[in-house]
Amino acid sequence: MSITTICVLGGSGFVGRHVCAALAARGYRVRVPTRDRERAKHLTMLPTVELIAADVHDAATLKELLQGCDAVINLVGVLHGGRGKVGFAAAHVELARKLVAACRQTGAGGVRRLLQMSALNAAPDGPSDYLRSKGEAEAILKSSGLDVTIFRPSVIFGREDNFLNMFATLLKCFPAMIVPAARARFQPVCVSDVAHAFAEALAQQDSIGKSYDLCGPKVYTLKELAEFVAHTTGVRRLIFGADSALTHVMAFAMECLPGKMMSLDNVRSMALDSVCNGCAFPFGIVPESVEAVAPAWLAYRTPRGRYAHFRDRTQR
Ligand SMILES: NC(=O)c1ccc[n+]([C@@H]2O[C@H](COP(=O)([O-])OP(=O)(O)OC[C@H]3O[C@@H](n4cnc5c(N)ncnc54)[C@H](OP(=O)(O)O)[C@@H]3O)[C@@H](O)[C@H]2O)c1
Repeated sequence: MSITTICVLGGSGFVGRHVCAALAARGYRVRVPTRDRERAKHLTMLPTVELIAADVHDAATLKELLQGCDAVINLVGVLHGGRGKVGFAAAHVELARKLVAACRQTGAGGVRRLLQMSALNAAPDGPSDYLRSKGEAEAILKSSGLDVTIFRPSVIFGREDNFLNMFATLLKCFPAMIVPAARARFQPVCVSDVAHAFAEALAQQDSIGKSYDLCGPKVYTLKELAEFVAHTTGVRRLIFGADSALTHVMAFAMECLPGKMMSLDNVRSMALDSVCNGCAFPFGIVPESVEAVAPAWLAYRTPRGRYAHFRDRTQR
């Protein structure tokens, strides 16, 4: 079946904006529900994207959103679970169930094609609530009888990320940094590669029924990533790794602070290395490395970078 219109749940977020751009660039019509139209208004710049204020947790609304769509992409995710609709169970597990029901209710000629954003190491018996709820969502979708493709990325980096940018901000503010879970290993994947993989999967029938682990070309510890950011942004800081006990104390403290940079559940997720163990990136995409891409925006944080940026903009 040819796909022309796609509903992207979670399309307004960091990954979503790149997925929507990749879909719009391929000429797809894209429908994005959001809880906050104002926060998502950057998407209105994309020519084929329609932004709708809607509550995707409401079954009738969800069904209406899928009317006239040929596929749905589910990017909704929370990293720090809260209560009710923002909890892991509601945002990951219940929403997956409601999505399957909504797809089925659209009837013949309705939505059969579903792309799901999961996470590396997601499993119903995973070590954290985040990974368990993502794993349960995968299980629901796999047994739905729909044409499902699942993506399981390691940590995702990009200009608007909340990962390398958070290190950059912290390194700028404090004279030294203690990195919790410093030896946790990641294989960061570039957001544009993730977005292309989603767009490519829609065009490739043989991606149906498959799960793809998505990783960049290189493995780093969290401390190595903090050191990379310090080096790239030109700040000289002492960077220490916290041991397990201090990591737990720090995560507990951060969990209680507004903005929740980290939680104890995140620490439990990091008990497993978020790495791909050599599996190739799908669809022939050659993934970008952190070193090749991130300096393009991190370097603007150095005084010299800001000056060059200013000269660029004013053409002086
Ligand atoms: N970023 C990473 O490093 C990474 C790594 C692995 C997997 N993932 C997964 O990739 C997906 C996208 O991540 P992201 O970094 O783009 O996250 P994000 O920037 O926080 O965006 C999350 C999106 O989901 C929607 N959303 C969040 N909570 C919701 C809720 N309770 N009910 C309804 N909608 C909700 C938001 O929509 P509105 O606020 O507009 O309503 C937003 O568009 C998530 O599923 C995440 O678990 C991310």
